Amino acid sequence: MRTPRWLLAVGVLAALAGSCKSKRQGITVGLYASMTGSTADFGISTRRGVELALEDLNAHGGLLGQRVRLVAEDTRGDASEATSAVTRLIDQEGAIGILGEVASGLSLSGGRVCQRRHIPMVSPSSTNPAVTQVGDHIFRVCFIDPFQGLVMANFASRTLRFTRVAILKDQGAPYSVGLAEAFRQSFTANGGSIVDEQAYRAGDTHFSAQLNAIMAHNPEAIFVPGYYTEVALIAREARGAGFQGRFLGGDGWSGPSLTTNDDDKLVGDYFSEGFAVDAATTPVARDFVRRYRERYHSDPSGLAALGYDAALVLFDGIRRAGTTDHAALRNALATTRNFVGATGSITLNEHRDAVKAAVILQVQANGFQYHSTVNP
Ligand code: PHE
Repeated sequence: MRTPRWLLAVGVLAALAGSCKSKRQGITVGLYASMTGSTADFGISTRRGVELALEDLNAHGGLLGQRVRLVAEDTRGDASEATSAVTRLIDQEGAIGILGEVASGLSLSGGRVCQRRHIPMVSPSSTNPAVTQVGDHIFRVCFIDPFQGLVMANFASRTLRFTRVAILKDQGAPYSVGLAEAFRQSFTANGGSIVDEQAYRAGDTHFSAQLNAIMAHNPEAIFVPGYYTEVALIAREARGAGFQGRFLGGDGWSGPSLTTNDDDKLVGDYFSEGFAVDAATTPVARDFVRRYRERYHSDPSGLAALGYDAALVLFDGIRRAGTTDHAALRNALATTRNFVGATGSITLNEHRDAVKAAVILQVQANGFQYHSTVNP
C-alpha cells in the first residue's frame, strides 16, 4: 500500500519541528543506562553523577555559550533496549555525545550505534576491553578488566595468601567472562590454582549445583565477577550451605543494594572499584563528595563518581573542540590528557581507555570500607 501524501507531509513537518527544537534547546547530550531491573543501581547512581556535573556546568554558563540539555534513557539492563535507546538519543533527540552504558555487554550494543553514526560515546564504567575496540568513537574513563583481574589476583595471592580459589561467573555477561579469565591468568601466574570454575546466568536465583561442585574442592575463596543482585543471592546460598571462605569480586559488586537487604553474608569480603569515598583526598574528589552529599543526602558510589567524570571529560572535549562537530569532538576526546576528575587523573591511551588506579574495598554491614589503592 502506498503511503498517503498527507501522511508524508505530516512526517516532514514533524522532522522539521524536531530539528528546530533541538537547535533551540542548545547542546544535547544523551545518557543510556539501566534505571530499572536487576542492575537499576547502575543507572540511578550514574545518572546522579552526570546530573551533578551538568548542573554545575549550566550554572557556570554551559558550553560554547549554550545551555547543555541531558536526555536519559533507561535500558532496563537489556542489550536490544540499549541499541534502541542510543538510536533514539541520536536520531530523535539530536545528541552530539553519548554517556553510557555501565554494563560492558550493553556498551557493546550501544557503542556499535554510536560508531556507525560517528557520534562519540564515553562509557563511565564499562571495563571489558572489547568495548572501545568497537571503534575510534568509543572512549571510557575507567580502567579495563585485565588490570582489575590482576589487582584482585595479586590481592588474593599476596595479601590474603590464598593458593586455592574457585570462580563462579555469569556466562551471559562479557564483563563477567572476561574478568574471570583475567583473574585466572594472573592468579595462576602467581602460582595459585583455580580449583573449579562454574557458571550461571543473570536472573538465576538458585546456585546450589554450582556451589556444591565448588565446595567439594574446598577453596579458600570464590571469585565471583558478577553484578550485585546475583552476587548477593550467591553469597546467601553459599553461607547457608556452610561456606566459610572469602568471596572476592570486581566493580560489578558496587551497587549500593549489595548490602541493603539486611544481609551480612558478604561482610568481610573484598572487591575492586574505581573510587572510594573514604580515599577521596584530592580537592576535586572532596568537592564532588561534598556536593553529592548535599544534593542526594547519601555517599556517592564509584558509579556516581565515574558518571560525573565521564560527563566532565565529554564537556571538556566539547570545550576544547570549540564546536559540536563530530570529527572535531572525537579528536578532542582522543587527546584527553591529565584531566583531573573525582576518580583521579584521566589520560586516554591509544586504545581510548583510561589508565588508572584501582581501590580495594571491603564489604561492611551497611556499606563499603576502603582497604587499599593499587596503581597500574
Ligand atoms: N565494569 C562493569 C562492566 O563492565 C560495570 C560496573 C562498573 C558495575 C562499576 C558497577 C560499578 O560490566
